[in-house]
Amino acid sequence: MTKIEEWSKTHWQNFLAMQQPKWPDQDEYQKVIASLSKLPPLVFAGEIRECKKQLAMASEGKAFLLQGGDCAEDFSMCTAPAIRESLKVILQMTVILAYAGGKPVVKIGRIAGQYAKPRSSDTEMINGVELPSYRGDMVNSPEPTPAARRPDPNRMVEGYFRAIATMNILRAFTKGGYAALDRVHAWNNEFVKSSPAGRSYEQVAGDIDKAINFMRVCGVDTNIPQLQQAIFFTSHEALLLGYEQALTRQDSTTGDWYDCGAHMLWIGDRTRQVDGAHVEFLKGVLNPLGLKIGPSHDIDELKRIITTLNPHNEPGRLTVINRFGVDKIEQYLPHLTREFKKEGFRLVWSCDPMHGNTYTSESGYKTRNFDDILKEIRLFFDILRAEDTIPGGVHFELTGENVTECIGGGQNIQDKHLRDMYLTKVDPRLNAEQSLELAFLIAEMISGQ
Ligand code: PEP
Ligand code: CO
Repeated sequence: MTKIEEWSKTHWQNFLAMQQPKWPDQDEYQKVIASLSKLPPLVFAGEIRECKKQLAMASEGKAFLLQGGDCAEDFSMCTAPAIRESLKVILQMTVILAYAGGKPVVKIGRIAGQYAKPRSSDTEMINGVELPSYRGDMVNSPEPTPAARRPDPNRMVEGYFRAIATMNILRAFTKGGYAALDRVHAWNNEFVKSSPAGRSYEQVAGDIDKAINFMRVCGVDTNIPQLQQAIFFTSHEALLLGYEQALTRQDSTTGDWYDCGAHMLWIGDRTRQVDGAHVEFLKGVLNPLGLKIGPSHDIDELKRIITTLNPHNEPGRLTVINRFGVDKIEQYLPHLTREFKKEGFRLVWSCDPMHGNTYTSESGYKTRNFDDILKEIRLFFDILRAEDTIPGGVHFELTGENVTECIGGGQNIQDKHLRDMYLTKVDPRLNAEQSLELAFLIAEMISGQ
């Protein structure tokens, strides 16, 4: 293993990088990386440090992490209404979770850069023709033609500018009054009153009303930044290492390296080899990192990955995002927890109840069932508590749009409804109502924690 002193933002190139597109024209690719390297960063080192500080609180049970957004952002959905609706649902979930848990919620979107996807196969057969798999809008386009599927590095530049546009409007929304507590809570009241799914949550919503009113009668000035603005962080899977390298910059005040493409980056379940390029690259940037862990893992390798990525055991640096699926979480999570505990690792434990619960419905749509998602979260809380470990957060694929991609929930979406509003290009997302319902249900799990 290389020593940290040997690290540079290009050193990963000496290691095997899984899941990279086969860029047809290397010169063109290198030109794109060079031009991206000169463009301004999306986020700043100070913000990244703040994100890590908040995650350190989550690792100690003093905050709760809510990470969510699209499976794969879609270039055509880089619009103010779409971004606003996704932000809105995350803010609404935040108020519910913060009230129930009695602690701040660390809000991290899968947004402003979640444009590249790992795939189980490099190619797929469509109508008898073998085509490169769709790898996210930053790589190619999903239409089933050879031209659309050809990886085009210029898409990384387009992705960068769309990420910048997304970031800009997020900053405006979160600082410009849109995230004010009373406003967000008014939306929750609307959900509770106007939707059949919402009615069961009248009590919690009423309690939050009372808490806000109580602040007012005590003379608390609600016109303060803490109640009017939100701190919202961005994240994506650090998959395309050329893109990540180009956005990695040295902080002028400390000399440290940060991947300024997002506040938090995660390593996917398919790219976390201890001797692979993704671990090599990410060990040298000081951002908070997520590590996805699914059923196929080797505990000793995981331990080596964790010590490589977090040699000083710094709290907030690493979030373990487990994604076993409702049928497997009981088999794997207790053991994992015990093993990591033995090592004394300081981690945020976050549950991704989406990626282990994907299946193809009878009508042929890739979907997930609301009840499986809920059950996996319940098991996550039960298992970690039994192991005396802190359940630190949750990780969702969700959208503010009224899609029909996941089955179940209060709207009782069934297989026959999936075709109505199935918009995702990769994995199925919870819609706004399903997301809020889950927040209320998680609130029951964490209240009095
Ligand atoms: C994802 O988060 O969209 C993803 C691909 O997850 P995983 O790496 O856990 O399969
Ligand atoms: Co996904």
